[in-house]
Amino acid sequence: MQDLEGKVAFVTGGSGGLGTAIATALARQGAAVAVADLPSRTSQVAALVGQLQTSGQAEAAGVELDVRAPASIRAAVEDTVARLGGLDIGVCNAGLNVRKPSLEVTEEDWDTVLDVNLRGVFFSAQSVAAKLVEQGRGGKIVLIASIMGLVGSPFGHAAAYCASKAGVVNLARTLAVEWANYRINVNAVAPTYAPTPLTEGLFNDQSRLQAVLDRTPMASLASPESIADAVAFLASPRADMITGVTLPVDCGWTAW
Ligand SMILES: NC(=O)c1ccc[n+]([C@@H]2O[C@H](COP(=O)([O-])OP(=O)(O)OC[C@H]3O[C@@H](n4cnc5c(N)ncnc54)[C@H](O)[C@@H]3O)[C@@H](O)[C@H]2O)c1
Repeated sequence: MQDLEGKVAFVTGGSGGLGTAIATALARQGAAVAVADLPSRTSQVAALVGQLQTSGQAEAAGVELDVRAPASIRAAVEDTVARLGGLDIGVCNAGLNVRKPSLEVTEEDWDTVLDVNLRGVFFSAQSVAAKLVEQGRGGKIVLIASIMGLVGSPFGHAAAYCASKAGVVNLARTLAVEWANYRINVNAVAPTYAPTPLTEGLFNDQSRLQAVLDRTPMASLASPESIADAVAFLASPRADMITGVTLPVDCGWTAW
């Protein structure tokens, strides 16, 4: 069954590890997908758009933005509508981390993380919602949080990241309440560690990987596809009655 037939989705950080899996899952469900990413990611965006188009399931387009610059997000949303004919789903996925002991974190480190992970997510959601309100037919927004927005990191070195993701979890709640009248559902997905470029450096360290597996009830990382499936569910009509929640895809990490 193709739940998202006729829908248009906009995915920030769309050419990254999880973004690629999310764009692919949405396209597989029939959505046309705008892969939104930094200008420096043009070749990765073009490759993914080509892949989505040749798989023949739906239309796709690459759009440029920097989530640190709200005007560029608004322009990317307009570009999406012009090229794909509307907007129904926004996935606010772009994110990064600066790993450092908290005693060494500089103002610049803090701002780097918060600017993309929290400010960028808010203005991405705002830009999508403004278009959904203008169209008057509701829609779905999915924010990518993290287990680190629900519990602290046992390994430290992630204060700004944890704070930003906790902010995303509460943004999902408060935006869900504020935009319910417009029939806009706002939810979040909180993944555990997944193998992507973001975690590559971390898992070059075999003992760190083992520590993550030992801390996880299912002794597993999450696959990007399993995270993408949760996003596709929350973006679908099957989730019409769900808003303001954060769905962990965490192999049991937050269960204890
Ligand atoms: N991989 C994991 O283990 C994991 C776990 C929990 C949450 N997450 C979250 O999932 C999201 C995606 O992470 P990922 O693992 O795919 O990382 P990634 O590094 O593979 O991809 C991140 C993407 O975001 C884009 N991006 C970064 N800054 C941007 C900006 N200013 N404007 C626009 N795009 C920007 C990058 O170009 C890239 O395409 C992030 O929010 C991350 O915090 C990841």
